[in-house]
Amino acid sequence: MCSVIGYVGKRLSCPLVLEGLKRLEYRGYDSAGFACVNSSDRSLSVQKAVGSVKQLEAQIADAGIDGYVAVGHTRWATHGQATKENAHPHLDCTKRIAVVHNGIIENFQDLKDVLVLQGHLFVSDTDSEVLAHLFEQYVTGASDTHEAFIRMVGQLKGAYAFVIISLEYPDILFVARRGSPLCIGVGKEEMFVASDPLAFAQQVEYVAFVPERTCGVVSKDSFVLYDREGMAVQTPIEQLEAEWIAVEKGEHEHFMLKEMYEQKQAIARTVHFYQSMKKGQVEETLGVTQDFLRDVEKIYLIGCGTSWHAGRIAEFFFESVTGVPAAAVLASEFRHRTFFPHPKALYIAISQSGETADVLETIRMINSHGLSTVALTNVASSSLVRECQGFWLTQAGPEIAVASTKAFSTQLTSLYWLAHYVAQIKGRIDQKQLIQAERELLTAGELLEATLEEYKHEVIAQDAPIYSAFNRYIFLGRHISYPFALEAALKLKEISYIFAQAYPAGELKHGPLALVEKVVPVVVFSHSDPVIYHKLLANVQEVKARDGHVIAFALEGQYELIAAADRAFVVPQSAPLLAPLVMAGLMQFFCYAIANACGRSIDKPRNLAKSVTVE
Ligand code: M6R
Repeated sequence: MCSVIGYVGKRLSCPLVLEGLKRLEYRGYDSAGFACVNSSDRSLSVQKAVGSVKQLEAQIADAGIDGYVAVGHTRWATHGQATKENAHPHLDCTKRIAVVHNGIIENFQDLKDVLVLQGHLFVSDTDSEVLAHLFEQYVTGASDTHEAFIRMVGQLKGAYAFVIISLEYPDILFVARRGSPLCIGVGKEEMFVASDPLAFAQQVEYVAFVPERTCGVVSKDSFVLYDREGMAVQTPIEQLEAEWIAVEKGEHEHFMLKEMYEQKQAIARTVHFYQSMKKGQVEETLGVTQDFLRDVEKIYLIGCGTSWHAGRIAEFFFESVTGVPAAAVLASEFRHRTFFPHPKALYIAISQSGETADVLETIRMINSHGLSTVALTNVASSSLVRECQGFWLTQAGPEIAVASTKAFSTQLTSLYWLAHYVAQIKGRIDQKQLIQAERELLTAGELLEATLEEYKHEVIAQDAPIYSAFNRYIFLGRHISYPFALEAALKLKEISYIFAQAYPAGELKHGPLALVEKVVPVVVFSHSDPVIYHKLLANVQEVKARDGHVIAFALEGQYELIAAADRAFVVPQSAPLLAPLVMAGLMQFFCYAIANACGRSIDKPRNLAKSVTVE
């Protein structure tokens, strides 16, 4: 998704801004831009490129521009195509103001209509350009600049994080945030502003997170932020977390590969993190009391994409371990449905980034009813953590590849642990069983890695060349392996661009069976429960009877399935509910190897972004 960065300070800005943009490239974009107050003649210099930051870098080198105050942007097209005109920074009529913006200004058309009547000329199709003209109209020349800027921001509807530079105020960055993340990197005689601290993590030691619905000004030595009423808002300056500073892919060809291999450690780190919590700390972190957990009557698991799939798998954890009904809901749908507030429900928002706009909006809606919301995320500094009553962190470490891998497996880890913790509070299990569940998770992490290691060479040498030639796939599962099949289908399509659809295996006869033919491989994820296994086996026979090609992820000892499949991966038995966790590494690797054989841009698939900060 789009990234913004701004710099004001003692160093020349261009290499810093470009480096910051490169570090945020993983979020996905289709054009890039840079503007600075040119130090040679104090003019505003702007360069934009459709394509990569590297292309932008080459253009800037040719143009020979730089200065000490600058903004940069990578854009993921929403309003208007990926063209130079639509790329940020956007300028005002006088070309003395430049703005970079994340999010969507929902009332841009109304604002634009008025500005056009006032004589402003627009050159792009974007909503963002309106910010430059608004600044020109309301802030430039105002007797009280801060007050004028606060008033300007007060006119905006929608979600935004933006940075403005202006020749009128050449030593200042104007910033504002609502609904999109923004943070300030605090250095010695220099400040950065960015949508993600990763952008400046190697440059400064401290960070301040711009609070929701604030705006302000940043100079090289200080910053001031205001709320909507113009009151100054204090925000803490924190030490940057070490893990965000060094993010490299090392000897691995892709971040996705590195992150798949990191899963055993990430799972263990997550379990140990929960084990190390002191008495009462779990409830305190979750933002609820022990009584609340004891009496909880419903668990909602809210998410998008992979995080929603983790929630769907965790429905089974909560229902079977705690006896409490659980519902995984898609944030983008749930928030538009009739809402029935449940005071004894726990609303868990699952989001790797903690910045997904649909999840945040859903949580805001639930918060407005005074209910108990928890952010289950990988990013402690995320908006979701700040907006929920409580939080629950996974310990995956930064995930850079767009395709979620270790975030998914640590979400499962986290939810499995939480289900057992709640069950203990409810008196359904004792302390020993909670410790047993922790052991099961650690074992599952080991089995995940062992399975991946066992098959990886075969998958690359034998399977990938064969399976990259198909252009449609069906994925099947039952019970807990159905949401896992959904995740597998998502993984394959997002990184290989091969069409894939997941079905509950029991639905096969109700329609999808018509799709079965030799050229459409059917991937089946097995289950350890004998009844479910035999039903899955029957589905496999239905596919084979129609000349279908079956790829099975079978469990050890499931001989009939192994024999019936055209290709079988045999996965060790584990705690029954953890089979998806054990299979996760191999499933991801299988999709990865196919995508690699297709020559895809694995870490940054086309059209996709890591962090989806627009609805
Ligand atoms: O950061 P989030 O977990 O909220 O992101 C939600 C989805 O965009 C994300 O899980 C997406 O589906 C994955 N990158 C797919 O691998």
